[in-house]
Amino acid sequence: DSKRVFKIASIPGDGIGTEITSAAIEVLQKLAFIEGKFSFEFNHFDWSSENYVKRGWYMPEDGMDQLKKNDAIYFGAVGWPNVPDHISLWGLILPIRNSLNQYVNVRPTRILRGITPPLAKCGPKDLDWVIVRENSEGEYAGHGGTTHGHSSHAVATEVSIFTRVGIERIMRFAFETAKSRPRRKLTMVTKSNAQRHGMVLWDSVFAEVAKEYPDVQWDKMLVDAMTVRMTLQPQTLDTIVATNLHADILSDLAAALSGSIGIAPSSNLDPTRQNPSMFEPIHGSAPDIAGKGIANPVGAFWSAAEMVRWLGMEEAADALMKAIENVTEAGIRTKDLHGSSDTKAVTGAVCKELESVL
Ligand code: NAI
Ligand code: MG
Repeated sequence: DSKRVFKIASIPGDGIGTEITSAAIEVLQKLAFIEGKFSFEFNHFDWSSENYVKRGWYMPEDGMDQLKKNDAIYFGAVGWPNVPDHISLWGLILPIRNSLNQYVNVRPTRILRGITPPLAKCGPKDLDWVIVRENSEGEYAGHGGTTHGHSSHAVATEVSIFTRVGIERIMRFAFETAKSRPRRKLTMVTKSNAQRHGMVLWDSVFAEVAKEYPDVQWDKMLVDAMTVRMTLQPQTLDTIVATNLHADILSDLAAALSGSIGIAPSSNLDPTRQNPSMFEPIHGSAPDIAGKGIANPVGAFWSAAEMVRWLGMEEAADALMKAIENVTEAGIRTKDLHGSSDTKAVTGAVCKELESVL
């Protein structure tokens, strides 16, 4: 028959990355099985910090070519106390984002059914955001160096790179995202009072692109004031666009305000679709809880749903989200959400719900 087979590269990585990736694969296989019109073929890559210590590399020479043979990439988390964090990040995840032109990172946040957010006055409908993170340059461009490293004259530079091309494409993506949502509202985050070159270019390219979208209502925030607005007036925000570093920080805050870092998904997209896009929860490897089987898999499942949506299967993605929220609503939750279930119980419950929602 004409069943579509999607090739998915899976990179579990380190710590709870491995636990939530296998949970996500179980749920995805179940989704495909019940839905019946497509299937997944997973290609597993053992690129981790443990293997880096043994082999001296995170990815082999032809790693990027191997990834390109897939329709999408599912990523757990990378980073472990046995390797400095800048080595692990620059050994695996940042080169993938850069080489595969994944210049957008989309991070939706909302209050899932049944979850009580930490803010007393925040109702379930008061927080429903999409953070659009610039994912290819800015503060994470990797420009800089160290001189006289071990002396009292040590100098280090970390240069942010902002390009017109890079800013324009992220702004256009952000406006398109805002336009596709009911409120048609975009908030642009900047720090152009103190950072007077890159951030000023960021602001001016935003203003240019804004002219193409008269039907989107927009405003601007300095990043420090943005943390206050997110906390005290969450209902005034909808789509948010920010730089690589700012959006990284704001999306952890967003996750916390919605209940837990363990819920939040992210999509690293190549909007041109010339390369596979990569889907991962926003959290890291959580060494403090790794190996205990208690990691919250909801962020991993939501990321999987976003992958399914990107692959064109809207209905299946909606069904997966419904199954996830039926489970959070039923109170089957991990400890970070004040529940008493473990990863396995939540995973089993979502698989079971899939049987009734599809
Ligand atoms: P983290 O996100 O791993 O953990 C922060 C806190 O949140 C910890 O207390 C952890 O137990 C908790 N947490 C995270 N995910 C959870 C989940 N699914 N369920 C329940 N609790 C959860 O951030 P941290 O501690 O700053 O970084 C740990 C390592 O992960 C570092 O090596 C870091 O570089 C790496 N990292 C990797 C990322 C990636 O691969 N994209 C992203 C962020 C950090
Ligand atoms: Mg982060």
